[in-house]
Amino acid sequence: MTTTENSQTGTRMRAVVQHEYGGPETLHLGEIDRPAPGAGQVLVEVRAAGVERGVEHLMTGLPLLVRPVYGWRRPKDPVRGREAAGVVAAVGEGVTRFAVGDEVFGIAEGTFAEYAVAEETKLARLPAGMSFVDAAALPVSGITALQGLLEVGGLEAGQDVLVIGASGGVGTFAVQIAHAAGATVTGVSSGAKADLVRSLGADHVIDHTSEDFAAGDRRYDLVFDTGGNSSLRRLRRVLRPDGTLVLVGGESAGGKLLAGFDRQLRAVVLSPFVSQRLKMLIATEGHEHLEQLASMVEQGTLRPAVGATYALADAPQAMRDLAEGRARGKLVVTI
Ligand SMILES: NC(=O)c1ccc[n+]([C@@H]2O[C@H](COP(=O)([O-])OP(=O)(O)OC[C@H]3O[C@@H](n4cnc5c(N)ncnc54)[C@H](OP(=O)(O)O)[C@@H]3O)[C@@H](O)[C@H]2O)c1
Repeated sequence: MTTTENSQTGTRMRAVVQHEYGGPETLHLGEIDRPAPGAGQVLVEVRAAGVERGVEHLMTGLPLLVRPVYGWRRPKDPVRGREAAGVVAAVGEGVTRFAVGDEVFGIAEGTFAEYAVAEETKLARLPAGMSFVDAAALPVSGITALQGLLEVGGLEAGQDVLVIGASGGVGTFAVQIAHAAGATVTGVSSGAKADLVRSLGADHVIDHTSEDFAAGDRRYDLVFDTGGNSSLRRLRRVLRPDGTLVLVGGESAGGKLLAGFDRQLRAVVLSPFVSQRLKMLIATEGHEHLEQLASMVEQGTLRPAVGATYALADAPQAMRDLAEGRARGKLVVTI
């Protein structure tokens, strides 16, 4: 294998490893071999790693749908984490966009570690003046908000937009992107996080612990759902007859196989028979969207809401805080 490497020696690294599916108690700080980049891949010296719900799915192995790719009985790859910001430590054969020493952010497998390998196509340069911590919060959650609102949702200026899960990893980006696009934004979150949602540009905030967003007369052109697993009936109720629903996800509900994903499938099946457009999002991961996010950051229209940072050894606690709803925006592990 041909790689261009920096001068650092040593092939071992610290990483948060997991040898069986389960809760945060299955994650432990350990020492493993440093991965090597193959053709078209980049080895990143990770400075910060974002924490997001996708990591929880891979940690628990639920829904079971993830297991054909990530391992039937136990995780194939022992290191969790998919978002990273750091410095290029080595590049594999054929990599043309990056060189050793470049500061980058993006999506890699196993980022709760000192080093992680990323496809060249899933990395972009760090936005000017941005910290590694902030950049690590961007990739998966930012791309999800961007694609869900603009590409799937067809967001336009002047629309009334409802963001359910507005205080979460995806939701904090969604509120800002909708606000920047000229929409009137209503965010749904717990009351304790309403100040955060307002500070990101929401015009109205609904506290889901004391108020039902589906009660009352307010109707929306676009409903962007990332939390709470509301029924399709309730979601459609607040949507204008020509409105668009984008189902992103929600806390696990339903069986182990689909864990709520059946709601998305039902929406897609129903959509051709109703006037509203009912859509689900499966975000795709590429550098073009990372660059779009970076340019929004540089223009001052987007800033990651990082609620807390954790040392690498405390990554299990970060996962616990995420699972138990204590995150305000994004959580980030620093290395
Ligand atoms: N489709 C895709 O490609 C894709 C990509 C990425 C993520 N996702 C999914 O998107 C979802 C959100 O991810 P995330 O990283 O943003 O998670 P997160 O940070 O945990 O955010 C979850 C949000 O849901 C809110 N929430 C909890 N209970 C609620 C309720 N009963 N009613 C309304 N809101 C409620 C939380 O608000 P409070 O804490 O204020 O209560 C929080 O804002 C997950 O299901 C994830 O798997 C999908």
